Amino acid sequence: MSDPRLAFDIGARLSLVGEANAAPSVHNIQPARYRFSEDGAIAVLEDRRRRLPVADPGGADNWRSLGAAAEGMVMALSSRGIASNVVWTEADTAEPLRVVARVTAAGDATPDKLRSFVPRRFTWRGAFAQRDGAALNGLDKLRDAGDLKLVEERHAIADLAKAYDAANLALMRDTAYRLELRSWMRLSRLNANWSRDGLNAQAMALSGLEAFGADVVLGKRAFPMFDRMGIAGPLTGEAARVRSAAAIGLFHRPVGEHEFDTGRRFYRLWLEITAAGLTLCPMSVLADAPDSARRLKAQFGLDDSRKLVNVFRIGCMPARAKAPRRARLPAHKLLV
Ligand SMILES: Cc1cc2nc3c(=O)[nH]c(=O)nc-3n(C[C@H](O)[C@H](O)[C@H](O)COP(=O)(O)O)c2cc1C
Repeated sequence: MSDPRLAFDIGARLSLVGEANAAPSVHNIQPARYRFSEDGAIAVLEDRRRRLPVADPGGADNWRSLGAAAEGMVMALSSRGIASNVVWTEADTAEPLRVVARVTAAGDATPDKLRSFVPRRFTWRGAFAQRDGAALNGLDKLRDAGDLKLVEERHAIADLAKAYDAANLALMRDTAYRLELRSWMRLSRLNANWSRDGLNAQAMALSGLEAFGADVVLGKRAFPMFDRMGIAGPLTGEAARVRSAAAIGLFHRPVGEHEFDTGRRFYRLWLEITAAGLTLCPMSVLADAPDSARRLKAQFGLDDSRKLVNVFRIGCMPARAKAPRRARLPAHKLLV
């Protein structure tokens, strides 16, 4: 059935998909594409060419990124007075594009209260400001979230910082992982994709010199050499940044929840954290490595009915720090 409410002109389509694509995605791969069909539905498609076969072999982070993008579309529609339903599907195809969800209109809506925080959300990978009143106030606003466990003891945060560096270094020693990550890094502004996708030096909070160094250090042959010299750890380590966090947040969801729905909640929780005046950086490796996930679940009392989705370091941005500019594909590339 044709639904006139989803019959948008091209300008409105571009603005909707641009807004939806402000959602976070793993390595900023932006896998979601959108098709406005004649029957009044918006299909969300996955561009399978943008997967991360080494870092995300099971595709969980990819599904979460697609769910987050769909949630972005739901919020964008709500701000235009349209309530919507989203149904995901796991249809298999060899085509580069596959439909993963359908968004249909479901009556009138008032704008989603989190939508106004979409332009203010970003990943903050630098050090955080001192844990002061503003940070504590923000954390207080998050205490009721049933799927975020806050860790605030300094010694526990220091242990997590150490565990994060160790898990990260183990991943970096895998050449295939390192080369895949590097292929999504944009370490120089001369890279044509600097402001379009992937992880640029500014988003990673690297100075020009550090970016130059990262390019050298992550090389196929250079990294093992630095590792043998014992300096790969210090060069890739982020422990000081982790220790500066006001809290570490363990984001957990029901074990049986589909990763697409987990991704929708991932985005909303991130916006709630933004609304509380805080910034965050996900540290996926702590949840992805099975040993680490098991240990953290046991240590922080998450039972078998919960899956550890991600581990966030959370805090306020330092007063003089600037938010990185959002790198995204142009909206017309997202319409198919
Ligand atoms: C499922 C998922 C996992 C992520 N894991 C990490 C991570 O381990 N480390 C990190 O620095 N950023 C991580 N991110 C953040 C993305 O890199 C980030 O959203 C993307 O680069 C876009 O930037 P923005 O969040 O500033 O808009 C993750 C995002 C998602 C959706």
